[in-house]
Amino acid sequence: MTAADLLARIRLNGAVPRHIAIIMDGNGRWARERLMPRPMGHRSGMKSVREVVEGAIEAGVEVLSLFAFSQENWQRPITEVSALMSLLEEYIAREANELAERGVRVMVLGELDRLTPPARAAVDRVMAQTAHNDRLTLNLFISYGSRAEILRATRSIAADVAAGKLSPGEITEAEIEKRLFTAGCPDPDLLIRTSGEQRISNFLLWQVAYAELYISPVLWPDFGRRELYEAIVAYQSRERRFGKVSA
Ligand code: FPP
Repeated sequence: MTAADLLARIRLNGAVPRHIAIIMDGNGRWARERLMPRPMGHRSGMKSVREVVEGAIEAGVEVLSLFAFSQENWQRPITEVSALMSLLEEYIAREANELAERGVRVMVLGELDRLTPPARAAVDRVMAQTAHNDRLTLNLFISYGSRAEILRATRSIAADVAAGKLSPGEITEAEIEKRLFTAGCPDPDLLIRTSGEQRISNFLLWQVAYAELYISPVLWPDFGRRELYEAIVAYQSRERRFGKVSA
């Protein structure tokens, strides 16, 4: 089926996931299959980011979360880390105006103090430029690890308790949620991972509690609008029970 056929089917089916999160995996293997250096795989993966953003807007998704760079990724060879930082700058330089025009609000989430100064400046610029938009929120997770995020929230709560601003009995799920990078964002309904790997890899551990999982065998640089729509159609055929019994 073509992307257009799938989109028509999504619209007929009805409920579209409000929030889709994607673990973009397989860039390295895609490059290796073509005897290219790994950064070429990441560069090609940038095209998929563009397609998936456009596809999400057209399908009426509210939030798209992309895992672009994990805290563990800092341990990759320096050449690959530099290539990924440059790609981030390039992506923002190339796409910021179009994203702004299309009503996309870009949020970059993670330990941003570790970014190179030019990458950090680009991130701050695109977030400011698109802050007022509300058609699609694009969360780019960079230098992100979910355990570190939960640890950060825990420290913040402990500091409030120590300062007498909060009692242990007042620590609720909402108190934790508002201290996560994703504060105010609905939880993902659908979590996609590409390249056939069946792991969460420290991505949004708290937030994906009730997300439907969809593993695609396709390597990220080959993942586009059609593959996104196939995932949404699969999601629409699932029965979400949130731990309860069927209606
Ligand atoms: C995983 O593939 C992918 C990454 C670590 C980087 C993702 C980055 C992009 C898609 C491009 C930049 C995007 C933006 C938004 C600037 P891998 O390298 O782990 O692949 P492998 O498992 O095949 O080695």
